[in-house]
Amino acid sequence: MSLQDLLTVVPAGSDEADLVRSLDFGRLPRHVAVIMDGNGRWAQLRHKRRVEGHRAGIDAVRDTVETSARIGLEVLTLYAFSIENWKRPQSEVSTLMGLLKRYLRAELGTLLENDIRFQVLGRVHELPPDVQQELGRAQERTKGNGGLRFNIALNYGGRAEITDAVRSLFQELLQDGRDPSGIDEQALAAHLYTAGQPDPDLLIRTSGELRISNFLLWQIAYAEIWVTDVLWPDFRRRHLLQAIGDYQKRERRYGGITTTV
Ligand code: FPP
Repeated sequence: MSLQDLLTVVPAGSDEADLVRSLDFGRLPRHVAVIMDGNGRWAQLRHKRRVEGHRAGIDAVRDTVETSARIGLEVLTLYAFSIENWKRPQSEVSTLMGLLKRYLRAELGTLLENDIRFQVLGRVHELPPDVQQELGRAQERTKGNGGLRFNIALNYGGRAEITDAVRSLFQELLQDGRDPSGIDEQALAAHLYTAGQPDPDLLIRTSGELRISNFLLWQIAYAEIWVTDVLWPDFRRRHLLQAIGDYQKRERRYGGITTTV
C-alpha cells in the first residue's frame, strides 16, 4: 500500500489530501496501538444509552482498520475490553460481546480480501464460549494472511499478560530442566501475547484522558503517546493520519541521543 493508494479514497484538494502528502511513507510507525475511549460520553452527549456509543464505535473500528491496511502498517492493536471492564453492568458487557461477535461475522470477508491477519490478545479462555468460537474462527481463517496484523485486546490486562508470560516461561524452563538465571528480556517477550510482533511505536488514546489503563505495559516502554479529545465513535482516517504526522515530527531517543523517528 502507498501514498497513491490512499489518495484514491481521499477527496482531491481536501485538507486530508494535504495531510496524506505530508506523510513520509518510508518512516511509518510499524505498530500503532489504540486505547478506544469515550463511547459512553459520546452517547451521553446525544442523550442515548451508553451501548449506542459502543455501537457507533464500530464504524470507527472499521475506518481505522481499513486505513491502517491501506497505508501499510504492520500491526494495529485496539483495546476493546479490559479485565476490569467486567465490573460494568451485565447488560453493557453482553452488548459489547454481541457487537464483537457481529463485527467478526460481518467483517471476516473483508479481512480475508485485504490479507489481514486477526489475533486476540488476552485471557481468551475466560470469555463466553460463543465469543471464543467466533474469535477462534476468525484467527484460524486469517492465520495465513501476510498483510496488516490486526490485534484486538480482549479480557486484556497488561499486568495479567506479564504474569501469564512469567508462568509460561517458568513452565517451559522446568520442563526443559533449564536454569532460570538465564532469563532475559527477549525470553520473557517471547511469552507475551504479542510474541513475534514489533512493540508499538505509537500509542493513541481518544477522549483526552492521560492514562495508560493497564494496556501493553511491557510493550509500550518506548512508544510515542498521542492523545486527542476526539471521542472514539468520531475517530476517523484523518485523525489516524494526523497522529502519524505528529509522530513523524517527534524525536525518539530510546534513552540515548538518537534524533527523529
Ligand atoms: C471505552 O469507552 C470503550 C470500550 C470499553 C469498548 C470499546 C468497544 C468497541 C468500540 C466496540 C467493539 C470493538 C471491536 C473491536 C469490534 P467508555 O465506555 O469507557 O467511554 P466513557 O469513558 O466515555 O464512559
